[in-house]
Amino acid sequence: MRIVVQNQKGGVGKTTTARNLASALVQQGLAACVVLADLDPQAHLSAMLPCADASAGDDAARWLAGADVRAAPVAGETGLALLRAAADLPDPAPALSMPAGADWMIVDTAPGWSELTVALCRWADLVLCPLEPDFLGLSGLARLLERFTQYDLPHDRLRFLLCRHSPRLNLHRDVQARLAERFGESQLLPVTISNSVRISESAGFGRSVLAHAPDSACALEYLTLARLLAGTPPISTKRSVA
Ligand SMILES: Nc1ncnc2c1ncn2[C@@H]1O[C@H](COP(=O)(O)OP(=O)(O)OP(=O)(O)O)[C@@H](O)[C@H]1O
Ligand SMILES: [Mg+2]
Repeated sequence: MRIVVQNQKGGVGKTTTARNLASALVQQGLAACVVLADLDPQAHLSAMLPCADASAGDDAARWLAGADVRAAPVAGETGLALLRAAADLPDPAPALSMPAGADWMIVDTAPGWSELTVALCRWADLVLCPLEPDFLGLSGLARLLERFTQYDLPHDRLRFLLCRHSPRLNLHRDVQARLAERFGESQLLPVTISNSVRISESAGFGRSVLAHAPDSACALEYLTLARLLAGTPPISTKRSVA
């Protein structure tokens, strides 16, 4: 499974989602080896993931250039490996392929849109678009849909994930209802990621939110997201909200 996490809008939870989805897949035995690729020069994903082997730092650029790269194992998380960020990325990319041994690949992209984004969206099985359920979130989503039309990309590969969600807010409930009506559960994923300080805390500790706060709502939500994307039924246990 090849997943590209994309939204032209910045700060919507792309990197957070790539990181925690990867851990959730491995933790539930839904993937044996998830390779994460950090294609954002900000290198936030690389900063979040401690790698024991800190040699080369431009694995992601070499992967895009078609080299036979070995992703760096993530320390303390068997089954996770990382292609680290580089300041300069080839644009557009040549033929892309999964690194040897990976059964899932999750690509974290920079905000914005480029020829590289187009190539990645063509290559992906799914384009996962995290967004905040507010006016600017909707505006970003509209731009993404326009780009998909402009570049003749398959709209049915898009999956929308509401992040930083607060069900108490009328605005968030309204936006969720509007999107559900327009896209249905096939595209608006039937799980949302709660707004939680546990997420930012976990990034600071170099851990997934599943390891940092396993009983939190957002940990359960990322586990559910992994099961949805892997095509298995969502888990239905109720946990306390941290
Ligand atoms: N569900 C959440 N609850 C609370 N904070 C969150 C949540 N998701 C992400 N954040 C925080 O929001 C900030 C932006 O998240 P993140 O870096 O994942 O977004 P991004 O879309 O990758 O940003 P960029 O476009 O700059 O790459 C981070 O500080 C992160 O810890
Ligand atoms: Mg990011």
